[in-house]
Amino acid sequence: MSKPAVKRAVAETSEGSHPADLEFARALLNGLRAPEKSIPCRFLYDTRGSELFEEITELPEYYPTRTETAILEACASDIRHATRAGSLLVEFGSGSSTKTEILLSALDRLSGYVAIDISPSALDEAAKRLSKRFRDLQIFPIVGDFSRPLELPAQFDAVPRIGFFPGSTIGNLVPEAAVDLLANMGRILGAGSRLIVGADLRKDRDILLAAYNDAQGVTAAFNLNILGRANRDLRAKFDLAQFEHLATYDDDKGRIDMHIVSRVDQIVTVLGHDIAFQNGERIHTEHSHKYDIAGFQNLAICAGWTPQRVWTDSAKLFSIHELHRPVGED
Ligand code: SAH
Ligand code: AVI
Repeated sequence: MSKPAVKRAVAETSEGSHPADLEFARALLNGLRAPEKSIPCRFLYDTRGSELFEEITELPEYYPTRTETAILEACASDIRHATRAGSLLVEFGSGSSTKTEILLSALDRLSGYVAIDISPSALDEAAKRLSKRFRDLQIFPIVGDFSRPLELPAQFDAVPRIGFFPGSTIGNLVPEAAVDLLANMGRILGAGSRLIVGADLRKDRDILLAAYNDAQGVTAAFNLNILGRANRDLRAKFDLAQFEHLATYDDDKGRIDMHIVSRVDQIVTVLGHDIAFQNGERIHTEHSHKYDIAGFQNLAICAGWTPQRVWTDSAKLFSIHELHRPVGED
């Protein structure tokens, strides 16, 4: 039996690696000093944010996780048949790697598993759990931003790659950025690779609004935690009681928008700058796009992928797409 290997690496970007706090500080100040305030959604996932996301996945209103899990359980053997022995599984935005366990059980002859996530705590916990369950699997957690260039471990250079991007995290990017991200994944995975992507589907607005405005207030806590993170990590002075969560649905764009709304006129000190908020003023924190199948496939084609099979649940709530990277694309 070979030994389990859990190695943690910090992804190097072309500019070198940046401390997370510095990146957050820059993004926060830029976003809060703009005429329409916003904070990029990747900063929702510090340790507390990752915990709250896991709580969201268990909410009765949040259908995506249980629906995608059920689809994956049903299609895992189809995926297995198309996967060559010795392939490397590369997951983007792996979080708790819970759905990954379904694939890891089905794809029993992998050469390794690379998990890429911006949240170090989520990666650490997942790697510990998986290394106990899949004792022969080499696991490579990489703390990094999946939208940046990234080198896979060199020993897998000649190995077929299968990418995995579940959760409909692709929906958190506007379509142009989603195309860029899928293209970046193509460069990381290389010619001849396959990518399995989860994409939430367009549906009745009431189902969507309930999923992002849950009765227990977990999504609100997840959203407001981004201000809590600014207080903890950057010593900002947000009084969270003076802000509230808002999720809206734009039918034309087919997307949920998450905002934080100021309950009063107030001035908050952030990194030495006084930021003024009017009563009712919003900070945009997340897009969550919903696609129809052809719409998602279009994005994939624009990013140089060839759509293959699609699996959905019977109520057509969620979709899982198989994409192929033709040789000669990069
Ligand atoms: N794949 C899991 C988690 C989805 S939540 C699931 O299907 O349940 C989105 C995950 O993507 C989080 O773990 C978050 O930390 C990660 N993430 C968000 N933006 C990221 C980025 N730019 N680069 C890498 N990881 C990111
Ligand atoms: C990770 N991502 C796809 C989730 C979503 O549904 O857009 C994040 C989330 N935001 C609020 N609830 C869940």
